[in-house]
Amino acid sequence: MFDAIAKLKEYIEYQSVSADSAYKEGMGQTRDFVAKMLGDLGLSVEIVNTKKHPIVMARRTGDPSWPHVVIYGHYDVQPVDPIELWETPPFEATIKGDRIYGRGAADNKGPQMAHIAAVAELLEENPELPLRITFLIEGEEEVGSPSLLPLLVEREAEFREADFVLLSDTLSPSADQVAVTVGLRGIAEMEFELTGPKSDLHSGLHGGAVYNPLQAMAEICASLHTADNKVNVPGFYDDVTEVEDWEREELKVLGTDDTAYAASVGVDGLHPIDGYTPLEAIRYMPTLEFNGMWGGYQGEGSKTIVPSKASVKITCRLVGNMKPDVIGKLVADTILERVPKGIKAKVKMGHSGVPYLVVPPDRPNTPAGQGEILANAFRSTEKAVTGVFGKKPLFLREGGSIPIISDVKRVTGLDSVMIGLFLPEDNLHAPNESMSLEVLKKGIQVSKLVLKDVAGV
Ligand code: BES
Ligand code: MN
Repeated sequence: MFDAIAKLKEYIEYQSVSADSAYKEGMGQTRDFVAKMLGDLGLSVEIVNTKKHPIVMARRTGDPSWPHVVIYGHYDVQPVDPIELWETPPFEATIKGDRIYGRGAADNKGPQMAHIAAVAELLEENPELPLRITFLIEGEEEVGSPSLLPLLVEREAEFREADFVLLSDTLSPSADQVAVTVGLRGIAEMEFELTGPKSDLHSGLHGGAVYNPLQAMAEICASLHTADNKVNVPGFYDDVTEVEDWEREELKVLGTDDTAYAASVGVDGLHPIDGYTPLEAIRYMPTLEFNGMWGGYQGEGSKTIVPSKASVKITCRLVGNMKPDVIGKLVADTILERVPKGIKAKVKMGHSGVPYLVVPPDRPNTPAGQGEILANAFRSTEKAVTGVFGKKPLFLREGGSIPIISDVKRVTGLDSVMIGLFLPEDNLHAPNESMSLEVLKKGIQVSKLVLKDVAGV
């Protein structure tokens, strides 16, 4: 018997922070753990080495007439800091009540385990299951999946003949209301450094004469949004597309309680772009966010200087037909144009990801050529979630990004069925990350029902 919770505990205890080279050993151990776990299910495992963290592929081949599902997940996790805010050690999986705590519990080890356990149980119950399965578990999702795209290109033919991708790496609004994610925002990352004087200066000797780079940075950043929270970059919204009526209907069913939402994140008011509710703004609109700003003296007390440098990290979330390179250039050009005389600017571009949208079957805008197996997988998912969780899922776009999902579509033609198995209270990317064991158990049941339906048994 495959024990999903015991396996998840072990999985969480392997330290797989992809961003930090100090975790090299943990990354290797995690890769080996995943490879062995999938190998033990009787799958043939291939470890694809990359420049950084290997990709684990595990295949159940079979009759070419059998449907073929690719199950995606990532074995890497976010860094753990600020570690002092964790109530239990991040790499000691701890069960308290209905929850399992630890870094990666929700993003993505727990949700991914739902599908691994489902396959384990199905193959145990029915070794003849007429389904081809390819697990694709990468170790670089949290650092922008740099190696997965080249793999997709190299193995295009193999992936292209699969039917769809199944994954759980997105949000559901609550344990009572599961979401099937039908859209992800894209992303464009950048960093700007402004330089004024060649070194920090005494502000008594030079203040008032020399342009202060922190002041210039503040002025530029302040110019990038209007008072009603629109991004003030000419052309920024040109490629935003219309949202379908059926999508708005789904979101209406979810309803909004802005006060509760504000309270849940600890703010006393919200600031959505003009004309959109907060939930719409997250899903339907692009953003320009300041992720970090620094420069000058930040130690104890004060220091009277005109600093030499100021920096900012920015990410834009993208929707519709917005292209990361186009938006990156637009924002960079706008910022550079606004740099005053006396200040020099340097730009560095980071990760990028294209927005992704998939239309479930039976909607007014469902593509005419949608594959029957994909369409049925959506129908099975709706049926399975309704049966197991006791309520019909909502088909919602999500505000987060999984850049590889649109790459998969572009390179291999495959669409993704994304079943949201983490919840707002799971603390993704934050201290005390956790996952509900009830959601995990139900997720296993849903995945089993979907895979059985797809296999036609
Ligand atoms: N699992 C998340 C993506 C996600 C978060 C989807 C919330 C839906 C709702 C994923 O691991 C993630 O954090 N992605 C990054 C992408 C970045 C590193 C390129 C993100 O969205 O910030
Ligand atoms: Mn994730």
